[in-house]
Amino acid sequence: MNALLRALLDLPPAASSYAAGIDMLHYFVIGTTMLGATFVFGLAVFFLIQSRRRVPGELTHRVEASTQSELTLIGGLLTLFIVFWLVGASQYDRMMTPPPDAIPVYVTAKQWMWKFSYADGRSSMDVLTVPQGRPIKLIMDSRDVTHSFYVPAFRMKQDVVPGRYYMAWFEATTPGTFDIRCAEYCGVNHSRMLGSVRVLDADDYRRWLETVQPGERQDLAARGLEVAARRGCLICHSIDGQPQIGPTWAGLYGSTVKLASGRTVTADVAYLTKSMMEPVADVVDGFKPVMPTYRGVLEEPEVAALVEFMESVRDRPIAPSVVLPKVVPESAAAPPFQVPGERPAGPGPAGPAAPAGREERRP
Ligand code: CUA
Repeated sequence: MNALLRALLDLPPAASSYAAGIDMLHYFVIGTTMLGATFVFGLAVFFLIQSRRRVPGELTHRVEASTQSELTLIGGLLTLFIVFWLVGASQYDRMMTPPPDAIPVYVTAKQWMWKFSYADGRSSMDVLTVPQGRPIKLIMDSRDVTHSFYVPAFRMKQDVVPGRYYMAWFEATTPGTFDIRCAEYCGVNHSRMLGSVRVLDADDYRRWLETVQPGERQDLAARGLEVAARRGCLICHSIDGQPQIGPTWAGLYGSTVKLASGRTVTADVAYLTKSMMEPVADVVDGFKPVMPTYRGVLEEPEVAALVEFMESVRDRPIAPSVVLPKVVPESAAAPPFQVPGERPAGPGPAGPAAPAGREERRP
């Protein structure tokens, strides 16, 4: 039945954990609307014949519908639409919430290619390699124009607008190679912005992980610490819980942050990246808007590494004796922040502000 409907609607094979559910909703919506359309068409034909003029000058009878039948009709249709919405909303929620154990992969879209950066420091162009049966979390952004990451077999599509970060996830259920397409017109070679997802079974995936060249593998979080030191981030941000010119990174990732505007936000990938690119947009309460923008300064993999590092210190206990890597900051690329006439009073209660939202940390 499923295969027949899929063939009838010309759908590609379903190869992700949520594809079957989406197809079911698709069949349900298409089925009920087709039935409804057939019913209305049949009714129109019936009335056309039944109410035709038989004698010249004959008038149709006045028909009054009972309140009960009208209420039944309205109630029935309303229930149908609410069921559509409920099923759709629960599926949307599932698709928008990556499982906590999902493997992160950073995706950069640019004219006209897809670049993938893995947590072990490797990266690849246009081919995304993932294991079968494990959730994969994609953290995506675009370097130039709006693209859309589309894997028809996974029933997954996510627009990527430059300057913003997006999260999407999938779990591939069958080994094989599946097309990646760009589903947003992005320039002359839009139609050639193709890629593929290579889904490997457990053994092949282990073998793939082992094929890494010496020196190629580097822990993304470790690289993040190196980037933070080299780009001068650690001059203003501590990683031991002490607020400096900027908020500490310890316990920041995933926490709830109170902003100077009075709003609160969750310090997720999107917020952290926006804070690097537009630092004055969402200044944390108690801090000054003195951070320069890093748009065009940080390379894409560096942003990924920094975020990965911040995530790695989300549960860090406050220990002032952290040894930092000895790397000289690139003063030309990222000048140390200057607060004219003002330096923070130093660590402790006299500092600019307490680190926000540590109570919301997840394990
Ligand atoms: Cu990228 Cu179309």
